[in-house]
Amino acid sequence: MEKTKIHRVAVVGCGALAQAAHLPNIQRNPRFELVLTCDREEKVAEMCRAQFGAQRAETDWRKVVTDPEVDLIVLATHVNLRGELIIPALKNGKPVYTEKPLSPDDREMREIVKTTRETGIPVCVGHNRRSSPAMLEFRRLLEKARSGVSPTRPSVDRDLNRKITIDHKEARTQILMRINDDDRSWKDWGFRDAQGTMFAEMVHFIDLALWFNEGSPVRLFAEGAPHGNFTLVLKFSDGSITTMQHTRIGNFDYPKELFEATTRYITVALDQHIEVRQVGMADEPVLQTFPYAEDCGWAKQEGMTGYFLSLIEERKQALSENRPLRFLNVKKGHYQHLDRFLDCLEGKCPNPCDAESAVPVNRLAMKFLESAASGLPINLGPEIMEV
Ligand SMILES: NC(=O)c1ccc[n+]([C@@H]2O[C@H](COP(=O)([O-])OP(=O)(O)OC[C@H]3O[C@@H](n4cnc5c(N)ncnc54)[C@H](O)[C@@H]3O)[C@@H](O)[C@H]2O)c1
Repeated sequence: MEKTKIHRVAVVGCGALAQAAHLPNIQRNPRFELVLTCDREEKVAEMCRAQFGAQRAETDWRKVVTDPEVDLIVLATHVNLRGELIIPALKNGKPVYTEKPLSPDDREMREIVKTTRETGIPVCVGHNRRSSPAMLEFRRLLEKARSGVSPTRPSVDRDLNRKITIDHKEARTQILMRINDDDRSWKDWGFRDAQGTMFAEMVHFIDLALWFNEGSPVRLFAEGAPHGNFTLVLKFSDGSITTMQHTRIGNFDYPKELFEATTRYITVALDQHIEVRQVGMADEPVLQTFPYAEDCGWAKQEGMTGYFLSLIEERKQALSENRPLRFLNVKKGHYQHLDRFLDCLEGKCPNPCDAESAVPVNRLAMKFLESAASGLPINLGPEIMEV
């Protein structure tokens, strides 16, 4: 049996996300050894060291970059710290898993890409939805739908004796992404940050739009405000359109993310990373369900019906026990993305999300902000994709 390679890791920036995802994920992944927790707040670094079993705590990230006992770095600060750490880390031979957004600064992103190319040391960007188990299945189905399979006949078909082909419309991919958010759950920075969720959060979904679509982006339009309640429209060179609808005035306990793609008379959907549906491909399941996150063993039924039945049951129990509702957490790919990066470092698979791919994502997010501010659509040239 192949011996497990152990990756000695340091986590820089031990805030909310690191404590909720990266540190527990590292702790339960046998491929990691947590060497140190680093945060500029000494108390936070020390508290995380003790809670997640790190060997040391540190407040100065510069020491982490040159630490001979550290093989790779997980960077989970905000964009206040990106190239300044990533570039010397790469030059010291240390791969970096960095949280999104890579950076709002184009020059800084290009410097990071240049260094990763020169050193051959990879950077993985935390666009973790790409590694959600349900998302990988959604994308497999979408690719298969586009591959030319014959769609099943619909129950209502008025097209038996005529062939409608308008501008190859059936070959396009129309995608809707719906993000139901509740700003009462946000941390302070969600309100303060000038670029708002249109940048900090939507990079996840813009990344998916580029990952799902085959054409290059040619035009975009945003209606709404940077901190939420907006609709983003992105048009691609083959005529495909992806629409991203965000609300900050939804209820947190309603499922947050819904994705629906249609192409070649096939519909594929992903609901809240726990259910994938498709209609149109006879040899694929209509409905598949995926498990909740590990901390949700109490929710007994999978899938969307299971979600709501679990919520009803949880409400009753919480009321009778006079306690707050527990969160029905789902697998959005945080654990898997980091684990796939280890596979990449061991030469077993490509990088699940390299720095190059994040550059156009962030550029598009900045253009959406521009469009929202001006109220005008923006045409995009090939330079948006050039790195
Ligand atoms: N992938 C996801 O699903 C997801 C979800 C939430 C947040 N994020 C991203 O994660 C990042 C962090 O978000 P958060 O909510 O955890 O923020 P946070 O403010 O809770 O945590 C950031 C931490 O970094 C520390 N820090 C800042 N500058 C530092 C420095 N120079 N040296 C050492 N430590 C430093 C802060 O003290 C703080 O503890 C953001 O970029 C955010 O966009 C990603």
